[in-house]
Amino acid sequence: MKITKLALGLLTVALLFVVGEAATETSKKTVTEESLGLRHTDIYSETKETHGDKTEYGVNPAGTSKRFVRAYQDAPPMIPHDLEGLLPITIDNNACVGCHDPAVAPAMGATPIPKSHYIDFRPKHTYDGKTFTNVIDNMKNEIVEIVENPTLTGARFNCSQCHAPQTTGKLAVESTFEANYTREDGSTKSTWDEVILDNLNTLE
Ligand code: HEC
Ligand code: HEC
Repeated sequence: MKITKLALGLLTVALLFVVGEAATETSKKTVTEESLGLRHTDIYSETKETHGDKTEYGVNPAGTSKRFVRAYQDAPPMIPHDLEGLLPITIDNNACVGCHDPAVAPAMGATPIPKSHYIDFRPKHTYDGKTFTNVIDNMKNEIVEIVENPTLTGARFNCSQCHAPQTTGKLAVESTFEANYTREDGSTKSTWDEVILDNLNTLE
């Protein structure tokens, strides 16, 4: 068979056309930088759209701030008031207890420290002078004795380890999480006061 120069030429043109079309298709599908990641802004500028608002914590002194809605049922509440002069918490000075101690909290308009903070949830152990051994109930695993102590348990002393202030600014990436509270008042109140003493006692 004789392939003429003309036929070869036509074939090349046709091929180029097809390849060219495919290339155009690919460039149409290019993924933009803005569509990658959560920030939805290009990576060359650090604008407000990228950062969200400046982090600014509540400046209203305790007693004049507005409580935040709890993030989920039994979440540790965020601190709404100014912390100026209240931190750091030291062994000799825990300003938080001064207002949140259940004995004074109602008079101060503060939320009382809940029962859970007066219970030691750490597994019991024995100590023979050398080794700590966890007390094990073969049916129930490690034993935690649910007893309310008159004083705050050590694990709850450092309030700011779990309770943090919350900024009121807008986020660059809005959270779409919606809490599904198990109780009607779940957005403002923890349920632990009522349930822990009955449900978690591993000794019974
Ligand atoms: C001068 C008294 C006072 C001191 C000191 C204080 N608080 Fe408060 N706290 C309040 C009051 C009153 C409220 C209720 C909101 C308001 O009125 O500002 C509150 C609210 C809170 C809340 C929110 C409770 C809820 O139900 O949502 C948390 C958490 C909190 N404080 C933690 C702390 C921590 C941690 C410290 C120590 C770093 C502290 N507070 C020190 C008086 C105080
Ligand atoms: C180990 C983490 C942790 C530490 C430390 C801690 N808390 Fe909490 N706190 C929580 C959690 C979790 C909750 C919600 C569940 C509950 O009520 O126990 C809570 C709830 C609270 C509540 C709301 C109670 C209610 O009835 O709604 C207050 C007030 C509070 N804590 C104050 C304090 C103060 C003051 C301190 C320091 C003396 C402190 N907490 C230390 C984790 C902690």
